[in-house]
Order: sequence, then structure tokens, then C-alpha cells
Amino acid sequence: MTAKIIDGRKISEFYRAEYKLRVDRLIELGLRPGLAVIIVGDDAASQVYVRNKAKACESIGMHSEVHALSAATTQSELLVWVDKLNLNPDIHGILVQLPLPMHIDDRAIIEAIHPAKDVDGFHYANMGALVIDESPFPPCTPYGVMKMLEYEGVGIEGKYAVVVGRSNIVGKPQAMLLLKAGATVTVCHSKTKNLAGFTRDADILVAAVGRANMITGSMVKPGAVVIDVGINRLPDGKLTGDVDFASVSEVASLITPVPGGVGPMTITMLLGNTLRAAERLAGLVETASETLFA
Ligand code: GUN
Repeated sequence: MTAKIIDGRKISEFYRAEYKLRVDRLIELGLRPGLAVIIVGDDAASQVYVRNKAKACESIGMHSEVHALSAATTQSELLVWVDKLNLNPDIHGILVQLPLPMHIDDRAIIEAIHPAKDVDGFHYANMGALVIDESPFPPCTPYGVMKMLEYEGVGIEGKYAVVVGRSNIVGKPQAMLLLKAGATVTVCHSKTKNLAGFTRDADILVAAVGRANMITGSMVKPGAVVIDVGINRLPDGKLTGDVDFASVSEVASLITPVPGGVGPMTITMLLGNTLRAAERLAGLVETASETLFA
């Protein structure tokens, strides 16, 4: 079997076109959705991600601003920035790019972001909503994975899904979203014994571990849907995922490439979450569960 490639760029275009129409509608009402991104320090990869987020906002007519702060910024200074943005009526979404320098407590910063502007969905209030009910802001990467599966018509109910990785940004929220969609879910991680024993049974396999090419063809069930969340830079500068594309694409039925798979969807879902934040703050959306999976 040679897997069909899930084209994250094409699917992103589809959703961005829909979001642009909603942005246009808000602009007609006098409201331009705005995203503020804070980046602390000069990590090169983070700078590229932040630039891409800002460009994507502008491409659909949203306001974006990037606050690039020095690596020496203190936690109290950063909290002042977050407070200012919480109070700024032109800003509907706030994203503090992670990782932060070691001297800053990530959690303290995330908890300072107003939950109604927490477009990453990382605040305890939104993470709690995700577990118990439905978050207004599902974390962008796992949300993007769900939207890709939906676009490709992959049925989730009753399927066995294995998520490899237990991070707060991807693994844990991914498991919650798949569970809510009716999958039976196992979360594997670096301490899991006999990883292949789990992955080989998975109908849907999501790899989010951050280790280049660690999922190989012999670890995948024939016909499985394989989603690669990894972005790893090889010594030669090339980007590669957590999935060994060459061997897995011989076994899977559907597979995401790196680059051009999950990455563009993450940014697209950030646009969706920011747009939803603006609609909610303007009182145009009454409940948390409006258009998430419409
Ligand atoms: N760093 C890597 N991924 C993310 C993300 O989704 N949000 C934020 N804030 N930082 C990240």
C-alpha cells in the first residue's frame, strides 16, 4: 500500500478562506480581530514561528503585533506586558511563545493571560474545559490534527487511537480531543515499554515526541492513518518529522508529510481561535460550543 498524503497546506487554505469571510464580516461591524504575540529571547526557530503567525494573521485581514523582548526580561516585566494586553480592547488573542527562558515560570505567565484571550488554550480554565466539556480554544496543534482528519473524512468514533507524546501542548490535549470524538485512546511516551506493541494496533497514530524518524513502517498497522506532529532539524539542516516517511508511507493509508502537514494547520487554528475570541468578546457567540467542529 502507498499512503495518500494529507496536504496540510491545501487544507489550511480551505479553512483560511472561511475565516477570511468571518473576518470581513467583523470588519464591516467595525471590529478587526487582533492577535498579540510575545516572544522573549532570540531562539531562531521560535522567531521563525512567530513571524509566520503574524504573516498568517495579516493574510486574512486580522491585526497582529509582535512584541520581541530581550532574553533578560524578568518575570514581573513580562507579567506587566500580559496585563497591558489583557486590557487592550484591540487585542482579542494573546500568545506567549514557548519555551520561555529558564528564569521565567511558564505557568505563572500562562495563568496571567485572561482566559477569554488565551488563544493557545493553555490556561487551566480552558484546559479544564477541554477535559470536562469543550474548550472555546482547543490547543492549536491537536485542533489542527482533528480538522485534518475531519477534512479527509476519517471516522474517529470506535477507532483505536494511539498518541505518542504526553506534552501539555500536544499529547494531552490531543488525547482529550480524540476521546471526545469517540476514539479509544492510549497515550504512550518515553517511558512506555514495548511502544510498538501499542502503535501496531492503532487505527489512528499521532506521533508527537520530538525524535526524528522514530516511528518506522514495522511499528504501523497496515491501513492506519498516521499523523506526524514532529518538527526536527537534522544536522544537514533539513526538517524531518517523528515518522520515517519512506517506510511508513508503504504501510499507512493516509500520512502527513513534514513540512507541509500539521505545521500549517497549527497556524490556521490559531487564526480560528483568535477569530472566535474576537466574536466571543464582541458578544456575537453565546456559548463555548458554537462552531468548533462545524
Ligand atoms: N511553542 C511551540 N508550540 C507552541 C504553541 O502552540 N504555542 C506557544 N505559545 N508556544 C509554542
